[in-house]
Amino acid sequence: MKIHIIAAIAENNAIGKDNQLLWHIKDDLQLFKKTTLNHVIIMGRKSYESIGRPLPKRTNVVVTRKRDYQPEGVLVFNSLNNAFAHFEKLGEDVFVIGGGEIYRQSVDDAHELHISHVDTSVEDADTFFPKVKWAEWQEEESEAYEASPENDFGFTYRRYSRK
Ligand SMILES: NC(=O)c1ccc[n+]([C@@H]2O[C@H](COP(=O)([O-])OP(=O)(O)OC[C@H]3O[C@@H](n4cnc5c(N)ncnc54)[C@H](OP(=O)(O)O)[C@@H]3O)[C@@H](O)[C@H]2O)c1
Repeated sequence: MKIHIIAAIAENNAIGKDNQLLWHIKDDLQLFKKTTLNHVIIMGRKSYESIGRPLPKRTNVVVTRKRDYQPEGVLVFNSLNNAFAHFEKLGEDVFVIGGGEIYRQSVDDAHELHISHVDTSVEDADTFFPKVKWAEWQEEESEAYEASPENDFGFTYRRYSRK
């Protein structure tokens, strides 16, 4: 079982503000969809509420410490480790899709990172991607996208695997 992390990160590691994303980037949303479709996606309760619904054609997993939390169409776990253990037993890869708290707890266990490096810095963000020890990661793939009417900013998608 592989743990993948997928995130769109500003130059200063910002990823969110007021429980929302910091941008609208259509090409990144499409990339996210293509990468995660038919897979297991794991997210924190706050990111789930920000999205507001289960994402179609994926096994949606939400982690929360709340005991009575059960929105329709998602699997709920009371700890991130229990969620990982469940899919480890099934031999299924998982994609950790955020947010900041969940990335922080999974980056040291992840096998692959799918990062969209967004060409901007957002100083008033309130949520950040954790520091990555880049020396431990090898770049496997890279593709640049331009800003456009549908992409607020240009970005470079890079896939990294653990060395
Ligand atoms: N740029 C990107 O790629 C990207 C991707 C995803 C999200 N985001 C942004 O990130 C922000 C949300 O991130 P966030 O850090 O505030 O919240 P989050 O990580 O989405 O969710 C945090 C919540 O997850 C639950 N949780 C965390 N660790 C847990 C554990 N070990 N066991 C059980 N439950 C656990 C808790 O829920 P309870 O409080 O219910 O117990 C906690 O309050 C938003 O702005 C969102 O738009 C950005």
